[in-house]
Amino acid sequence: MAFKITEETKQAVLQKIAKAKGTPVFVIDIEQLKKNYLRFRENLPDVQVYYAVKANSDPLIVKTLFDMGASFDVASLPEFHLVRKNLINLLPSEQQDFIWEKIIYAHPIKMIKTLHELEPYKPLMTFDNFDELEKIKRHCPSAGIVLRIEVPNRGSIVNLSSKFGASREDAINLAVKAFEMGFLVEGLSFHVGSQCTNFENYRNGLNFAAEVFEEAEKKGYKIRNSKTGRRILDIGGGFPAEEYNTGVMPFEELAKKLNAEIKKLFPGDIELIAEPGRFLVANTCTLVVSVIGRAFRHGIISYYIDEGLYGTFSGQVFDHQIYALKAFKGGEKEKCVIFGPTCDGFDTVSPSTNEKKYPCGLLPRMELGDLLYADNMGAYTLASATNFNGFPVAKAVYVNR
Ligand SMILES: Cc1ncc(COP(=O)(O)O)c(C=O)c1O
Repeated sequence: MAFKITEETKQAVLQKIAKAKGTPVFVIDIEQLKKNYLRFRENLPDVQVYYAVKANSDPLIVKTLFDMGASFDVASLPEFHLVRKNLINLLPSEQQDFIWEKIIYAHPIKMIKTLHELEPYKPLMTFDNFDELEKIKRHCPSAGIVLRIEVPNRGSIVNLSSKFGASREDAINLAVKAFEMGFLVEGLSFHVGSQCTNFENYRNGLNFAAEVFEEAEKKGYKIRNSKTGRRILDIGGGFPAEEYNTGVMPFEELAKKLNAEIKKLFPGDIELIAEPGRFLVANTCTLVVSVIGRAFRHGIISYYIDEGLYGTFSGQVFDHQIYALKAFKGGEKEKCVIFGPTCDGFDTVSPSTNEKKYPCGLLPRMELGDLLYADNMGAYTLASATNFNGFPVAKAVYVNR
C-alpha cells in the first residue's frame, strides 16, 4: 500500500478503518492504482492499456482507470456491461457507437446467448478455433475479430496456454478461413501466462505474431484493423507484480526489452494494446481481519479468523499466491495454524509447519478480537471470493482517493 507514511502510521490507519467499518475489510488505495497505471504508460507509451477487469472488478478501480484513459479487457457479459453501462454511457453519443477503442471481449470461447447480446454493439473479440469462428459468423456477425495465438507460458505462475490460443499448425489456416468467410481479421493476440517472469514468453509471442502477419500477407490477406488500417497486436497480460516473487525483473527493464523487440519486429503500422490485470492492482489492496476464535490443537495454537479460502484468500487456491498475515502488535512469534471462518477443514489459510511457504504461520500470541492484516491482495482475491456458508464477501473501503 502506498500510504505516503510510515508502516506505523499505515497500521494506525488500517486499525481505524477496521474499527469503524468492521472486518473483514478490503482497503483499496486509489493513489497506488494511479501510480501503477502511470508507470505502465510511461514505460510502454505506445501500448494502450486494456485493463483486465477479471483481476479486480471493483467499480471505483474500473472508473479510476477509465478516467485516466484506460480501455478494458472483459471476458463475460457482466464485465462487458460494467464498462459499457457505467462508463461508455458517460461518453458523448458519437463515441458510443464504436467501442473497440474502449473494450475488447478477450475470451476466445463465448456462449451463443452472449454473442447475441453483444451483436448490437459491434464488439471487438478474440477467437482461436474454427468452431468459434462459425459461431461468431452466425450469432455476432457485426464483430471485429482478433486471432489469439498460443505461446509458451514457461515460468508463469498461472498457465493459460493449455486452454487458449491457436497452435502454429492452426493459426495461419484459421486466419485464412476467417478471411474466406468474409471477416477481416483485425489483429492478433497472445497471453504469456499470469505473473510471467520469463521474458522469452513475450519474445516467443511477438515472433510468432510477426510470422502470422507475414504468412497471411503472403497468402494475399492483410490482417489489419478495418477502421484504422493498422495491424492490431494485443500482447495480453502477464506483467508480474514485483511484490510476489523475489527475482522478478523490474517493470522498467521488462518494458525496455519489450520496446526493443517490438521495434525490431514491427516497424511501422502496428497498433499495440495490452491487457494488464495483476500489475495494475496487486499492490493496491490490504485486507484486515479479526481473530474470532482460538484453540489448542495437537499442541499448536490455532486461530480462527473472519475471512478464509472461500473469501478473499481464494487467491491462495486459484491464483497460487500466499498472503502473509501480519499482526499489529509485537511480541515473540510462535508457530500457529490459521483457519478461515467456514465449516470446511480445507478452509485453512495457514498451516504452521512450513513457514517458508506460509509465512503467516508465525505470529505473536493473539487474543480474541485482535486484528491481522495482509498486503498486496489486490489481484484475483475478492474477484474469486464466494458466499459459501452464507458468509458475505469482505467490504471494500477506499483510501487516498
Ligand atoms: C485474456 C486475458 N487477458 C489478460 C489477463 C490478465 O492477466 P494478468 O493479470 O496476468 O495481467 C488474463 C488473465 O487471466 C487473461 O486471461
